Amino acid sequence: MTGFLPLTRPGIDEETIATVADVLRSGWLTTGQKCSELEAVLSERAAGRPVRLVNSATAALEIGLRIAGVGPGDEVITSALTWVATANVIVQVGAKPVFVDINPATRLMDTNLLEAHITPRTRAIMPVDLAGFPVDRDRVYAMAKRFKLRVIEDAAQSQGSCWKGRPLGSFGDMTAFSFHPNKNMTTGEGGCLVMNNEDEARQFEKYRLQGVTRFPDGTYDCDLPGGKANLTDIAAAIGLGQIKRLDAFNQKRRELAKHYFEQLQNDAVFQGLALPPSEFEQANWHMFQLVLAPRLAVYRPQLIAGMKALDIATGVHYPAVHQLQLFKRMNLSVAHLIHTEAVSSGILTLPLFPEMEVADILRVCDALKQVLGQVQHKAGV
Ligand SMILES: Cc1ncc(COP(=O)(O)O)c(C=O)c1O
Repeated sequence: MTGFLPLTRPGIDEETIATVADVLRSGWLTTGQKCSELEAVLSERAAGRPVRLVNSATAALEIGLRIAGVGPGDEVITSALTWVATANVIVQVGAKPVFVDINPATRLMDTNLLEAHITPRTRAIMPVDLAGFPVDRDRVYAMAKRFKLRVIEDAAQSQGSCWKGRPLGSFGDMTAFSFHPNKNMTTGEGGCLVMNNEDEARQFEKYRLQGVTRFPDGTYDCDLPGGKANLTDIAAAIGLGQIKRLDAFNQKRRELAKHYFEQLQNDAVFQGLALPPSEFEQANWHMFQLVLAPRLAVYRPQLIAGMKALDIATGVHYPAVHQLQLFKRMNLSVAHLIHTEAVSSGILTLPLFPEMEVADILRVCDALKQVLGQVQHKAGV
């Protein structure tokens, strides 16, 4: 790929573009047949469990919390190394986010620490599969069973990831996926929730569209204050084109990630960069993230600027949620988030998307070598 190398880029083929054009010509643009078709395909991938679409994973997570009955006075345990949406939805339903520290090796919630955060107010756990690496579902569900908690999985980044050979969403309680354009498959914007039964799915349909139930005689009733979060058939047509290619996309991501490992493992200049877990069976490789050692982390802004000057995007995913203003004001208990803070201050995402080639990986690593050399020279290391 020549020119500026972005962090990610959706791969939309001509066939998908043609089906979107068909929808535009059809006269039916809002939620309809295409959404039903995509829900059916998603359900098939989730072992037949009910799946419903919405216009974002944020909406899916929030509705999931509402269906689980989470509200004011309740606590939801999650991790702070995540996109702020995870914590925002907990606040939106009136509950309190409780952050458990991460394991620095996996960068995911440390499930050994879950029990210590459970109080009589805990209602749910929201595990986050950062970069597409699955949180230990055995431990999460063992804890949920023991303490009678609901689990709303924030699998926004992990479409196509597995836990012990089982696709995420095909088991467990509720699972939310995102179809934002930077995800492994997209609908432009969009998301979905996998649920346990048709009763939950019916509640979901109400929450996503004004709380309304329609009757065959053309009338309707409204029995809860639902919002407006339904997906369009235009978006679903994109999703139908994407989901056919999801497994191939993820396979290509895995192969490219292996090339990053080859390049980054064998050169002294890369010492001081922690690589992601070498997990090539279960993860969908949504992101390839390095963690800079503290002596280099202080130079992260210069590294990012240096890479940009060489036409390569890098990113910070994520600033720790508890260090954002809204959450600071809540006076949450955060003193224990040692690994979350250390990893968050050193994390750096490199470009990774299926349209990249091995030559692009080499280009990123060469640029990184050059910029790291400059930074290390400045740092006197
Ligand atoms: C971990 C995580 N949770 C939730 C979301 C929200 O997804 P959406 O943008 O579809 O609302 C995202 C999206 O980036 C995410 O990465």
